[in-house]
Amino acid sequence: MRTETEHTIYLKDYAASPYAIDKVELDVKIGPVTSRIRALLTITPRTGTEPGTPLVLDGDELKLDSIAMDGGPLPLTAYAASATTLTVSEPPARTFVLETEVTLEPEKNVKLMGFYRSGGTWCTQCEPEGFRRITYYLDRPDVLAPFKVTMSADKALAPVLLANGNLIDSGDLEDGTHFAVWEDPFPKPAYLFAMVAGDLGSIHDEFTTMSGRKVALGVYAAHGKQDECLWAMDSLKRSMAWDERRFGREYDLDVFNIVAVSDFNFGAMENKGLNIFNDKLVFVKPDSATDDDYYNVERVIAHEYFHNWTGDRITCRDWFQLCLKEGLTVYRDQEFTSDERSRAVKRIDDVKTLRASQFPEDGGPLAHPARPDRYKEINNFYTATVYEKGAEIVRMLATLLGEAGFRKGMDLYFERHDGDATTIEAFIKVFEDANGVDLQHFQTWYLQAGTPEVTIADSYDAASQTYKLTLSQRTAPTPGQDAKVALPIPVKFGLIGPNGSPMSWSSASGDVRGDDMLVLEGASATFEFKGVPNKPVPSLFREFSAPVRIVSAATQADRLFLARHDSDPFNRWQSLQDVAEALIVDAVAGRVWSAADVTALAEALEDTVTSKSLDPSFKALALGLPPEQLLARTIGTNVDPDSIRAVRLKLVGELVAHLAPALTAAYKENRSTAAFSPDAAQAGQRALKNQALALLVVGGAAGGAQLAREQYDGATNMTDRFVALSAAVQGWTGDAEAMLGHFRTMYTADPLVFDKWLALSASVRADGVIERIRAILADPSFPANNPNRLRSLVGSFAMGNTTQFARADGAGFRFVAEFVADVDTRNPQVAARVLTAFPIWRSFEPVRMAAAEGALTALRDAGGLSRNTADILERTLAG
Ligand code: TRP
Ligand code: ZN
Repeated sequence: MRTETEHTIYLKDYAASPYAIDKVELDVKIGPVTSRIRALLTITPRTGTEPGTPLVLDGDELKLDSIAMDGGPLPLTAYAASATTLTVSEPPARTFVLETEVTLEPEKNVKLMGFYRSGGTWCTQCEPEGFRRITYYLDRPDVLAPFKVTMSADKALAPVLLANGNLIDSGDLEDGTHFAVWEDPFPKPAYLFAMVAGDLGSIHDEFTTMSGRKVALGVYAAHGKQDECLWAMDSLKRSMAWDERRFGREYDLDVFNIVAVSDFNFGAMENKGLNIFNDKLVFVKPDSATDDDYYNVERVIAHEYFHNWTGDRITCRDWFQLCLKEGLTVYRDQEFTSDERSRAVKRIDDVKTLRASQFPEDGGPLAHPARPDRYKEINNFYTATVYEKGAEIVRMLATLLGEAGFRKGMDLYFERHDGDATTIEAFIKVFEDANGVDLQHFQTWYLQAGTPEVTIADSYDAASQTYKLTLSQRTAPTPGQDAKVALPIPVKFGLIGPNGSPMSWSSASGDVRGDDMLVLEGASATFEFKGVPNKPVPSLFREFSAPVRIVSAATQADRLFLARHDSDPFNRWQSLQDVAEALIVDAVAGRVWSAADVTALAEALEDTVTSKSLDPSFKALALGLPPEQLLARTIGTNVDPDSIRAVRLKLVGELVAHLAPALTAAYKENRSTAAFSPDAAQAGQRALKNQALALLVVGGAAGGAQLAREQYDGATNMTDRFVALSAAVQGWTGDAEAMLGHFRTMYTADPLVFDKWLALSASVRADGVIERIRAILADPSFPANNPNRLRSLVGSFAMGNTTQFARADGAGFRFVAEFVADVDTRNPQVAARVLTAFPIWRSFEPVRMAAAEGALTALRDAGGLSRNTADILERTLAG
């Protein structure tokens, strides 16, 4: 294991590079086994660089074949080359051209960073530090250059040759090879470089921008998959139109291409003009993809497209600023989905994700600010905090400034920083300048880790008709940040009167903005409302206006009142969650609910399901009880996942005993014989029907298992089939095993559907699941290097099947630790990510805690881990 300071990179040490790269010309000869990269870099010392300052280029597993300067040879004494650096000791004090050649073996690159081969297709992944695995370079985001790329390959093996920018030349060469020249006029950092070569099918379309320019659009994928790319193309066109409408952002090149590949470490990548996607985020068709898959494809296509302005045209100065592009772009894709679908449903979904992934991160050993100030391995900072909390921070900015003020700031951002590699400070400054406000305190959201806990107290004085609300905040220490400051917290709110309608007030004191927002700036603040005729029920944090934990003494009756009457759908949903959570948490602590408690919740749920005004997708969410992991987080310490699961299932059973007729009715009413369409309305109906089914099965309603079986057998689309199977597996019904077997036989040929089977197989709660997973892994036909397969199987086990992962006998922990050690030798990024299932280990009761610690220390003591995995492990064990 490495020591504390080795390899740590600090934000405070940032300095521009002594040299700039004015121009990059790459000549890439792709061969069946080896590929040769010749790079011509035009380099100029930056003003202020001392003559004779060495030029140090980054490399990673490279071997230099040849080097020249300004067309002539360079003496051996003038440079030093290793796998990780190329140093030219005394470059000229003027512009010069450095020429290098390296040979790569893409087939052997199983890390999937740099230039690699996926299912026969050659492709690249350069963010964050993959370009240095292709050629020696100043591989940092603040070195921007225009790229010109000449690619050549055997025409039969690779009829398609793609790179960033516009195609400026192409043609045939001797011996069956051909070439293409791509030029990207927009200076860009190397992490946005991309090229693809292979025998691919494609679909093509066109988009006319708001100024009337025509853009040629293409989606490339394995032959035969074209019909599965149509939704991606449709999503792309809608994204392009939305960015024009909502942010005035027009696309800038003549071409925009998307390529789907099967081996990919992440979701997708925003390379300039040539986005590369994990194929699971491109391919959809009704009989193999679910509504969730359609939603994810649309969302990620939009996300990567939006990066063209927030990421590519304006990029990051250094990797500490990652959330400058990621948080902002997630915010933008969230808004896109909200505008295209249901805003309320999208918000609830996003908050569920935030609580499931970011809150645990922020409250555990891996906690870090949205803008970290140090890292050992930047790949480990593509986190829920950078992405999701980063988006929440931007959302708060929009909430505080209002839509018009936010847009003014964004306009100024694009105007002022186009072409820049910039920082969070510069981003905040545009909103200050555009709105004439001071956001220095607000900026702290980016710098401070941890989730603030906001405690609410209120009182009502009937005599003076005064309602008093006191909010106080506290953030627990996080690794490396013991002292926390109070943050500015926007609280969207309303007061609700006894008859369920909104209440107004004659005057208010404290930072009350308009009639729907409070701002808590300090550790604590009291807001006083005069002229309030009755005791109100407050609805606070409407739309989840800040990423905080809320501690309130609200009674179950108040919560159920909000669930029925709040005009804010988010808080209606939240109130139902709170009621259920309180029942379960109390029962786990030994204070079991009464029959009346369950009846009250069941009636509120029934009113929700039978409501004529609420839409089906909202109802589906309202019926979802808090997940086990969230309950474990709320309980916090001494967690026994088996008892949480048992209590939660008991509550589901008792609720379903009340709700079965309403659920059955909802199930029947939302069945449809219409032709499949992925639109939000039809998907919402399916979601409600399928949520009803899942509850009937898991809640043990008579006929539930049978219904799942029937839906599975009769399904005409993957959503219905897969949900029926999941319900059977979750409830572990009599024929669940047989259904799983049938599903496997039917879909082994389609890897993305096979992933669904893998994930479900790993989610079985019964003993024996670890042996089941081991057997799947041991099958010689299992693609042991494919990240999607590995994540579907072991990732979903570690992250989702807590009772088996955290078995008291330690078998789950040991299995995952051994898996991490094995995969780490091939793909450190995948290994490190699976290891992030462990940081909750200290919340378990002592037996499980000791078992987890044993598995982690064994992994550490075996040694030989990659920097990625060692970094996560070290932080997980620390503290
Ligand atoms: N920038 C990409 C995105 O937001 C994600 C990304 C980061 C990535 N590192 C990667 C993708 C490595 C693939 C591989 O959407
Ligand atoms: Zn992104």
